[in-house]
Amino acid sequence: MIQKQTSSLEHYTAQIDLLLNRALQKIDQLHWITLSSVQVKGGESFPDARTVVLRKILKNRELVFYTDKRSPKVTQFERNKNAVALLYDRTAQMQLRIKGTIEIDTQSALYENARDQIPNQAKVNYNTLLAPGSALLNENPDRTDEVIHFALVRFHPHTFDLLHLTPEGGIRIKAKNTDDGMLSDARWLVP
Ligand SMILES: Cc1cc2nc3c(=O)[nH]c(=O)nc-3n(C[C@H](O)[C@H](O)[C@H](O)COP(=O)(O)O)c2cc1C
Repeated sequence: MIQKQTSSLEHYTAQIDLLLNRALQKIDQLHWITLSSVQVKGGESFPDARTVVLRKILKNRELVFYTDKRSPKVTQFERNKNAVALLYDRTAQMQLRIKGTIEIDTQSALYENARDQIPNQAKVNYNTLLAPGSALLNENPDRTDEVIHFALVRFHPHTFDLLHLTPEGGIRIKAKNTDDGMLSDARWLVP
């Protein structure tokens, strides 16, 4: 009984990296991730969330997203770096909830490299004259040719929470991301 559980725990821990690596693939449903933040307004905290595309996974499972640095999420992350990234694989019935912290990067070599490789057709995501969320008189914002508002959103995970729905009930584990790139303290949770 104990032996069986240990082996299954390893199996489920391994699913974390499998799901993350699948999320890098443009043809996979996991490529679009829900990234949540905290918005502080008038002294009150409100949850916020949006869909983002996973662009890169760096060492120690750091997740890299692209954005416009004037977007509300950037202000939110600068005020409160805590975030959750959420993935759900409908076919496998697995949810991966990742807690971590955000760093906005507009100056590293990684940033410059990513900015210089943005395809022409994707520049529209970072080149409006007004900031994302600004009011418009019609549906077409004015644009420049440059991507001067591009930024990297770098997500540093600290905890992974994986839930697998099965006909017999949910199976859930939690594991910590460590500085040396290992997943540690894996344990079962009530689903
Ligand atoms: C399929 C899809 C993919 C998206 N990918 C990104 C992305 O990679 N980066 C991004 O900043 N916004 C992306 N967006 C737009 C965001 O969901 C959001 O509307 C926008 O970034 C403004 O968010 P904010 O007001 O929370 O800053 C995407 C939206 C959709 C529907």
